[in-house]
Amino acid sequence: MPESNPNKYSRVSSRVDRIPSSGIRRFFDLIASSDDIISLGVGEPDFITPWNIREAAIYSIERGHTHYTSNSGTVDLRREISKYVNERAGISYDPVTEILVTVGVSEGLDLALRTTTEIGDEILVPQPAFVAYEPIVHMAGGKFVGIDTSMENKFVPAIADLESKVTDRTRAILINNPNNPTGAVISKKVLFELAEFILANDLIVITDEIYDRLIYGDKDAFVHFASIPGMRERTVTLNGFSKSFAMTGWRVGYAVGPEEIIAGMTKLHQYTMMSAPTVAQHAAKEALVNGDSSVNEMLEAYSMRRRLLLNGLNKIGLECIEPEGAFYAFPSIKITGLSSESFAEQLLLEEKVAVVPGNVFGPSGEGFIRCCYAASVADIKEALVRIGRFVGKHKSDPR
Ligand SMILES: Cc1ncc(COP(=O)(O)O)c(C=O)c1O
Repeated sequence: MPESNPNKYSRVSSRVDRIPSSGIRRFFDLIASSDDIISLGVGEPDFITPWNIREAAIYSIERGHTHYTSNSGTVDLRREISKYVNERAGISYDPVTEILVTVGVSEGLDLALRTTTEIGDEILVPQPAFVAYEPIVHMAGGKFVGIDTSMENKFVPAIADLESKVTDRTRAILINNPNNPTGAVISKKVLFELAEFILANDLIVITDEIYDRLIYGDKDAFVHFASIPGMRERTVTLNGFSKSFAMTGWRVGYAVGPEEIIAGMTKLHQYTMMSAPTVAQHAAKEALVNGDSSVNEMLEAYSMRRRLLLNGLNKIGLECIEPEGAFYAFPSIKITGLSSESFAEQLLLEEKVAVVPGNVFGPSGEGFIRCCYAASVADIKEALVRIGRFVGKHKSDPR
């Protein structure tokens, strides 16, 4: 037998090989390798899922709900999603044809992009952006077109910048409102301008609204994109339970949108997932029906921690836009002269505080770090002391 040449065929496809490993993962591996670290790194609630939601899951197991559900999700949950979206966003979706229960927003993103993207289609994505967006666009065969935003613009995309990136291959725009990692909320005015731009260029919209319940200050400042006139028929809205209801481990989310796109997404979901976890779907239904007071309590706690973190960062001299949503602050670390990666790595080694370097969210994240304030008050206070000491030591000499 001829000897096999290990270099002749890689066992990993070039499509997967081209995708860089998550920058954020490398960081979390570093964090895991050391005890005694205060983490403002991971983007998940420190709260345990509210008891009534856990109890609904236990009860569903007791009743023997251990089988697959319909591919689209249980009818009960889809009805509740329809009601919930209608009440909150004022848009009505048919639970049978326009709603799909997904394995988190993560799966929803993958399905939405694979369903709508032809090979080589260009997808506009304002950055800094959630780390999964770029790989997911690549895996769908699309071309990721990042649109830089800046602190001066409060990390909201400028229409002129979007216009300058449009070609005859531009297919869709992927927006995240409120934003991870900046905490920015796009104003109604800008969303309406965005809608005009979308109509003028006949684009599909994928909007990730996973942080929609985590809005500080004026609740009316947040607008569901599909509720803007003319947008419903071209928008897929992704949402889920991970952040608002502290349910990251349950793996459940949903997509609502035009029947044609939801049918395409359901086809992929049926062959890859079959259905979202059954127990989690029962829990999710309880979250929608009786979860409001828990969401509000958690929101109040985040609101206080947000203020604490912002005031502390300002005192240290790290400039930061006021985050209006989600649970992240995104301060500039430029006064230290360090790159985002060096700052985060040295902070971890010298002061044992974990934050995420801003560059993992795209080039316009360079010079920033992401601090998640879904952490305890004690941890935020101690992290601020340590960050203050670190910045004092590394502040570049102004001479
Ligand atoms: C903007 C954004 N979208 C989607 C997700 C993934 O959410 P899920 O747990 O529902 O898959 C996250 C998680 O951090 C996120 O920040």
